[in-house]
Amino acid sequence: NLKMNEHGDGSSLTSFHCRAKGASPGFKVAILGAAGGIGQPLSMLMKINPLVSVLHLYDVVNTPGVTSDISHMDTAAVVRGFLGQNQLEDALTGMDLVIIPAGVPRKPGMTRDDLFNINAGIVKTLCEAIAKRCPKAIVNVISNPVNSTVPIAAEVFKRAGTYDPKRLLGVTMLDVVRANTFVAEVLGLDPRDVDVPVVGGHAGITILPLLSQVKPHSSFTTKEIEYLTDRIQNGGTEVVEAKAGAGSATLSMAYAAVKFADACLRALKGEADVIQCAYVDSQVTELPFFASKVRLGRDGVVEFLPLGPLSDYERASLEKAKKELATSVEKGVAFIRK
Ligand code: NAD
Ligand code: LMR
Repeated sequence: NLKMNEHGDGSSLTSFHCRAKGASPGFKVAILGAAGGIGQPLSMLMKINPLVSVLHLYDVVNTPGVTSDISHMDTAAVVRGFLGQNQLEDALTGMDLVIIPAGVPRKPGMTRDDLFNINAGIVKTLCEAIAKRCPKAIVNVISNPVNSTVPIAAEVFKRAGTYDPKRLLGVTMLDVVRANTFVAEVLGLDPRDVDVPVVGGHAGITILPLLSQVKPHSSFTTKEIEYLTDRIQNGGTEVVEAKAGAGSATLSMAYAAVKFADACLRALKGEADVIQCAYVDSQVTELPFFASKVRLGRDGVVEFLPLGPLSDYERASLEKAKKELATSVEKGVAFIRK
C-alpha cells in the first residue's frame, strides 16, 4: 500500500531541491488502465516518445510500482502516477491526449461483447471525468467491445455538453498491424512496406480488410483472400486461445496503440498527411460509427477518405459487417440513454 508522493512514483527522494529543468516542449498524455497488460508496455513506449513531455499513469491498482519503474527511464517525459478513483480527475487535468486501455480482457470462448457488462461502466466513469477535466483532449479508446465503448463515450460527452466527434477515436490499429503482417507473409514482403486498409469495426466479421486496395498493388487468389480475411478477423481470438486464460493481446496492442497515439500527436503538432484507420463518428456509410481511413490534424479527424472501389467479396462482407455494427452501436447508446 505505497503512498504516492509529490512525484506520484513512491520515491522518497531528496533532502535538497533538484534544480528546475526548463519544461520540455511536447504534449501531455494520460493512460487510464496503465498498470494492466496493455497499460504497462504502452506506458513504457510512450515514455520513449519524444513528442510526450508529461505522462500521467492512472489505474485502480499498482500505479506506484509501475510509475516508479518507468520514471527511471532516461527520456524527457516527466511521469506521474495516480491511484484510485479519487485521483482520476487530477490525472486528467490539462491532458492533450487520453488513451484508455482500462477494463477486463477476454478468456477463451468469450466474444468481445461478453465484456460489455463490466467495461461499459468503466468507460462511462472515465469519460465523465475526461468531460470535466480535459474536454478538448483527443481520446483513444482501446477497451472492448470497441464497437460499443466508442458510442458509450460519445453519449457521455454529449450529456456533458462537450462532445466533439473529431476528437473521439476507437483504436483499430491492431487490425491494420495484423493485416500488414499476414499479407506481407503471403506476399513474401517486409511488413513495413505493406499497407492494408481495414474498415468496419473491431470484432469478428465487422473487421473488414480491403485486400483489393493493398499497397503495393497485389492480386490474391480466392483461397488467399479467404485465408487472410479469416486470419485478420480472428487474430484477437488466435492470441486469446494461445494465452489460454491469461488474457488477450497486450504486447502487439501496446505497439499498435503507440503507433496510433504517435500519429495523433504528430497531427496535433501540425504534421500534414497523417492518415490512419480508426473507428469514429462517421459519414462514410449510413452507420453513425464506422472504421475507415481518416486524415488527422490539429483538431483530431479532419477528413474522411472515401472507401474506394470494393470487390464483390468486400461488398458482400460489408453488408454483413454493417448489420452487426448497427446492433453494437445501439447497445452502447442505450447503455447511457436508458
Ligand atoms: P488487463 O486486465 O491486463 O488490464 C486492464 C487494467 O485496467 C488493469 O490494470 C485494471 O486494474 C484496470 N482497470 C480496471 N478498472 C479500471 C477503472 N475503473 N479505471 C482504471 N483502470 C481500471 O487487460 P488488458 O489486456 O490490458 O486489456 C484491457 C482492455 O483492452 C480489454 O478490454 C481488452 O479487451 C482491450 N483490448 C483492445 C484491443 C483493441 O484492439 N482495441 C486489443 C487488445 C485488448
Ligand atoms: C484483439 O483484437 O486482440 C483485442 O480486441 C482483444 C481480444 O479480445 O481479441
